[in-house]
Amino acid sequence: MSKFRTIWPTEDRFVEVIDQRKLPHEFVVVKLETYKDAEIAIKDMTVRGAPLIGATAAYGIYLAVREMVEKELDGSFLDQAFSDLRASRPTAVNLFWALDKMLDALDNCEGDFLQTSWEMAHAIVEEDVETCRMIGVHGLPIIEEISNRKNGEIVNILTHCNAGMLGCVEWGTITSPIYQALEKGIKVHVWVDETRPRNQGSNLTCYELTKHGVPHTLIVDNAGGHLMQHGFVDMVIVGTDRTTRQGDVANKIGTYLKALAAKDNNVPFYVALPSTTLDWTINNGLKEIPIEERNQDEVRYMIGKGESGKIESVLICPETTQASNYGFDVTPAKLVTKIITERGVCDASEEGLLSLFPEQRVIV
Ligand code: MRU
Repeated sequence: MSKFRTIWPTEDRFVEVIDQRKLPHEFVVVKLETYKDAEIAIKDMTVRGAPLIGATAAYGIYLAVREMVEKELDGSFLDQAFSDLRASRPTAVNLFWALDKMLDALDNCEGDFLQTSWEMAHAIVEEDVETCRMIGVHGLPIIEEISNRKNGEIVNILTHCNAGMLGCVEWGTITSPIYQALEKGIKVHVWVDETRPRNQGSNLTCYELTKHGVPHTLIVDNAGGHLMQHGFVDMVIVGTDRTTRQGDVANKIGTYLKALAAKDNNVPFYVALPSTTLDWTINNGLKEIPIEERNQDEVRYMIGKGESGKIESVLICPETTQASNYGFDVTPAKLVTKIITERGVCDASEEGLLSLFPEQRVIV
């Protein structure tokens, strides 16, 4: 795995991230110097993907502590930072997990708040790297088994949105098994859903698969069912922004339709997640997971590189047409073949998840 990451500390103890809104056409690095910078980066999707949202929020708290110390502000400044960052995006539970970790670290800190918050943000980032690596270790045998069954022929994997390293820190969740399979010489090919309206598939997943030399083909969001009906998909693997105690999975809008098509065609449907994406406090995904609604212009306009070489935005409907823009949907546990975590692979059910995370049995 390359040492390229999506978020990193600078020598002057600020933080830098890649502006993912500009990929794949431009590689632009953005420096975050205040918690407001971190909040805006999450809101406007300079950074996105559940684990990376969490990591950015963690550094956001460090930046708030820094500003508070440097400007001699009182504790209400930090309270405001927590509440602003909490409100930055609603669906990915990693955001709240990371903020709770930072709060806990600061609550238990008796000495240097700045150093404590700096170290905790680093720890969150490092934990994600190792977690994603382990998801690959546990997911690899699934790809290997399909490859063996096909006598070494290409394993065709369909994915939706970007749950690769760009959504995390390094490795990615769904890409970790794929990268590790490739390293082992297993032949893989990825069908990449473009993932309207923000096109995380075409912009980000294709970008990162290209960088890692993974054979892939971009498809329109509605092609998956057709490909499955014709035997062109061996497995589906997606990420998630929040998965309930019972194994219901919220992920980018359109994931549910892929799961239905997979079920109808006996194609296994896997969800790769770090345990930081498990929300143990809720059971029913449809009723309890908040689904983000974003600006309608993300649907009404498409952004891309024009013939002039400049990034352009074009209207794709009549001026007066209104659009709805739900960011996520929920795939019920019954449509999920298995969940791949850093601790192993399990059924998408409370018992399945508890078999890997027995310490969560106590919370009801
Ligand atoms: O709106 P986004 O781009 O933040 O949505 C991201 C996804 O839906 C990913 O699949 C999910 O966060 C998992 S990233 C490992």
